[in-house]
Amino acid sequence: MPFLRLAYASEATFEHNPVEKGIEPHVARILMTSRQNNAKRQLVGGLYYGDNRFFQYLEGEEADVQELYRRIQKDDRHRNIVTLIEEPLEASTFSSWSMKYVPLSRDVRRFLENHGLTRFDPAKFTSEQCEEMIDLIRNSSADQKLVNHDEASSSRQPDHPQVFSTGLRTGLIMAALGLFGALLYAGSML
Ligand SMILES: Cc1cc2nc3c(=O)[nH]c(=O)nc-3n(C[C@H](O)[C@H](O)[C@H](O)COP(=O)(O)O)c2cc1C
Repeated sequence: MPFLRLAYASEATFEHNPVEKGIEPHVARILMTSRQNNAKRQLVGGLYYGDNRFFQYLEGEEADVQELYRRIQKDDRHRNIVTLIEEPLEASTFSSWSMKYVPLSRDVRRFLENHGLTRFDPAKFTSEQCEEMIDLIRNSSADQKLVNHDEASSSRQPDHPQVFSTGLRTGLIMAALGLFGALLYAGSML
């Protein structure tokens, strides 16, 4: 089966919700769907969102990439989609990620500065700049720690998310103490 690599740029249509930590909620939803769907088809790549623009890179079996791209192009969460790269590929250049979204902020800012660019506008990237962007995504080691482009420093989602909220935890401790007290009282009555 022939492989295909594809990169495109687009503009988000949703109102950007600034988030102090973590990831823009619309983008988080896109990522969740992407990870579920892409893993099933062994599609790999990366998504970068910044300055209300998307840059996405995809690799996989030609038919799968093309089918996904048709779906993505119909998605009204973005517009002005510009195909930057679409060419055959011998084999996947990504290890095992279904859709990387990485805390590139600082790397991308440096990349933009190096090229004298004031904002993230991937539709205007040269082919060399596209390849550089793909390398940034590919080489990032901070996998799955989701961070927003707008954040100055990288913030991370907890590796072990809290299962219980603080309030619920306090309630459970109080209930356990109450039960313990009741048992003590019952014991003293015997
Ligand atoms: C910028 C952008 C990138 C997207 N990337 C992917 C992707 O890599 N994989 C995917 O399945 N859906 C992606 N989507 C979502 C698709 O357009 C579509 O909503 C989704 O595939 C539908 O999946 P479902 O039928 O499982 O709900 C993307 C959407 C946007 C706006």
